[in-house]
Amino acid sequence: MTATETALSTADLQLLAEAGGLAPSLHNSQPWHFRATPDLLGMEVHADLTRAVPAADPDGRALHISIGAALFNLRVAAAHLGREVAVRLFPAGEGTQPRAVLDLSAPARTSRPFGADLYPALTQRHSSRHPFANRDVPEALVGDLIAAAREEDVTLTLLEEHGVRRVLALTSEAEARIAADVTREAETRRWLRLEPSCDGIPLAALGSHDRDARVPMRGFAGHPPRHTTPAARFEALPQLATLTTHFDRQADWLRTGQAMERVWLLATVHGLRASVLHQAVEIPDTRWRLRDPVDGPAHVQLVLRLGYGPPGAASPRRRVEDVLDPPTAAG
Ligand SMILES: Cc1cc2nc3c(=O)[nH]c(=O)nc-3n(C[C@H](O)[C@H](O)[C@H](O)COP(=O)(O)O)c2cc1C
Repeated sequence: MTATETALSTADLQLLAEAGGLAPSLHNSQPWHFRATPDLLGMEVHADLTRAVPAADPDGRALHISIGAALFNLRVAAAHLGREVAVRLFPAGEGTQPRAVLDLSAPARTSRPFGADLYPALTQRHSSRHPFANRDVPEALVGDLIAAAREEDVTLTLLEEHGVRRVLALTSEAEARIAADVTREAETRRWLRLEPSCDGIPLAALGSHDRDARVPMRGFAGHPPRHTTPAARFEALPQLATLTTHFDRQADWLRTGQAMERVWLLATVHGLRASVLHQAVEIPDTRWRLRDPVDGPAHVQLVLRLGYGPPGAASPRRRVEDVLDPPTAAG
């Protein structure tokens, strides 16, 4: 350890792990765990494959997007701690653990390191599955969100009306196919939580469903929905954005997760709400048809719905001690 290197304290490690654990994940499965590097100058991000969602996500694409989001939160928390952050994805190759390593050995080079401004948004960001107002996201903010995704090597595209209608139709089709598939439907329902829990989707986080059946929110509560608040009128033309990548490797999924979280936290800072419409990405042929025909060979990784409306309720998280591994001895 050099003179400028300071080992992460137990409190630092807990703050980092807590921040990582606040990330969004498919069905709030939280498929990650974190471990300090043996020299206590960094943090490893591991996949927890016992928390996979196999019917919806057989290839682990959404699992890696979720881990990418946790990784971005760790970057933000490290900046908050005044550390310079260097990230390596898959240091031992794709498919191996750890999925990523953060080198936090150096102090931040500036007094306001990148990401520190996003720190308060970590606890303010929630999925909002409520109807949004008929109010456009200002163009300047759209530009900032696009730039934020681009910094992570991911393309964010705010869809024009014909694109929105195409994506809504494909999402409705996928939602109906998931509902008709006994295995998938049962898996989704298993993540709905009627009792207090440390994971899954609590009733309070469910929104209404669209009275006019135009905005196909995921049917966590079954078809027809049970336990939900009454149907409501949703925005006339939802503002949908896709996140796309050139390739479709595990590293691209981690990048997508980082971009999603960077965009979502920045949106939160500006009072914008978001939720994910992922159903069409989960079925190969609807995912294929999600591609913009004029957009070339981009792989659609995620659909985000953006807008102004009520905040979503917080969903529970696992305890820090359950996601932070005990330190290993320095070698
Ligand atoms: C890859 C991925 C897919 C998701 N798909 C959906 C979805 O189809 N419908 C939905 O309502 N939320 C979806 N979500 C949001 C999660 O359900 C949500 O992040 C999780 O329940 C935690 O809640 P929070 O975002 O409020 O912290 C998805 C999130 C991720 C990362």
